[in-house]
Amino acid sequence: MTGRFYVTTPIYYVNGAPHIGHAYTSIAADIVARFHRLCGDDVFFLTGTDEHGQKVEQAAQAAGEAPQAFTDRISNDFRAVADAMNISYDDFIRTTEPRHIKGAQAIWEKVAANGDIYLGAYEGWYALRDEAFYNEDEITTRPDGTKVAPTGAPVEWMREPSYFFKLSAYQDKLLELYETHPDFIGPVGRRNEIVSFVKQGLRDLSISRTSFKWGVPVPGDADHVMYVWFDALTNYLTALGYPDTNSPRMAFWPANLHLVGKDIARFHTVYWPAFLMAAGIELPKMVFSNGWWTVEGEKMSKSLGNVIDPRDLVAEFGLDAVRFFLMREVPFGGDSDLSRRSLINRMNVELANDLGNLAQRTLSLIARNCGGLLPAQGKHTEEDAHLLGQTAVLPDVMKAQIARVALTDALEEVWRLIRACNAYIDHQAPWALKKTDPERMADVLRVLADALRAIATVLQPYMPGSMDRMLTQLGVETDERNFDALDVPLPAGRPLPKPEGIFPRYVEPEGEGAK
Ligand code: MSP
Repeated sequence: MTGRFYVTTPIYYVNGAPHIGHAYTSIAADIVARFHRLCGDDVFFLTGTDEHGQKVEQAAQAAGEAPQAFTDRISNDFRAVADAMNISYDDFIRTTEPRHIKGAQAIWEKVAANGDIYLGAYEGWYALRDEAFYNEDEITTRPDGTKVAPTGAPVEWMREPSYFFKLSAYQDKLLELYETHPDFIGPVGRRNEIVSFVKQGLRDLSISRTSFKWGVPVPGDADHVMYVWFDALTNYLTALGYPDTNSPRMAFWPANLHLVGKDIARFHTVYWPAFLMAAGIELPKMVFSNGWWTVEGEKMSKSLGNVIDPRDLVAEFGLDAVRFFLMREVPFGGDSDLSRRSLINRMNVELANDLGNLAQRTLSLIARNCGGLLPAQGKHTEEDAHLLGQTAVLPDVMKAQIARVALTDALEEVWRLIRACNAYIDHQAPWALKKTDPERMADVLRVLADALRAIATVLQPYMPGSMDRMLTQLGVETDERNFDALDVPLPAGRPLPKPEGIFPRYVEPEGEGAK
């Protein structure tokens, strides 16, 4: 069954340069989007930049630029990274765009009309770095007297007039949501964390600021700008054309999947559904959070100078190897470490050896021994049938994994088949059959070509460029590359192009071997 699928990335703050952590969530969302397109779904994939707030205002000031010029520049850089990573977004929303400002204000007005916004004064511990207030019991004092939030960000006592959102009124409704929609929060560890956070009680949320100007004006009170999280979260709706209910894109609401980093799960699973309930808008189906990357065992930080621009990795290792590594290294949802050794190892073992060699061996035997023409499907032995059976169920197995955002487990399923193919080719030894039983040789090569076609088809979302090349080498036309097409065997005798290696082994440049 096909349908609509709406997937989002977080919108990225423009107060710093894009790094590998940002690219990570975008690649994951891209895989999900591409996967659904292959299934025949009508997909809308949104990414963008979060451009308001005091942090951005200050970053612009530090750079000696006007805020809008500053955000234009950094936002363009985020878009350039998305393009460099082959992210197939359908729209790129910026919160400084008029369409967003209008929509964010409309949502505010809806929530206000519901009686859930009131004017008060805010006093509390505020961490500028996190753009968040913290409870007294979350604050610790360092030996030097600085008070810090659990994130390590310094906090200061703030008092200012502020509009509040009646979050406290939503505690029971949120708990009921988590209870009745167990898939709303993933992975399950994060779900438990959020449930116990909400069970501890929710306080009303300050949702406006008067201390700076770089934000969306609060409707009807020009002294206030919206708290950046109220503004930012609404992007998922404003990009669809909200409040214009006639906008064709509105058909994509509710979102099927918000992919977010674990640090912002709370905003997406507590505040966001509460705002939507207050505005009388349907809730997204799932918020799944990914873990964080360290680099060679250390937290990425400007001061350590180890912040990785994904474009540098791509320049050295190639785009698809990087996309593959990021999804393969650790079960999606967990924390992980980016180590050069491990990346090279996976490139050489899993891409070059396991998959690259399998394709190369199969295709060069077809080129050499079958006149470069795809052999016909032959009579199947028990072993053939077994491998083809495993091949036939792969798309459905993957669909089930992707539905629960198990992006790494899905890859593991593909590698299980790749390993089975390698065992099969070694055991059948088609190269030895050329003289003894050429008919059987052709049958074996066709079994392998069919398995490889399925493998390359389902891997397209992960490694679009390389799998495009592999499918071309396997003689698969562009309109034969979706999941449905797998049910129709390729005609025998189709000429295949000259095989060329897809995944070169990575060899350390001279003198860098010890790195
Ligand atoms: N602007 C907010 C999101 C608003 S969504 C309505 C924001 N922006 S951010 O640029 O700071 O972070 C964006 C995403 O990058 C978050 O999902 C965060 O988890 C992710 N990452 C930042 N550093 C990361 C790593 N080191 N590793 C993995 N992801 C990381 O928060």
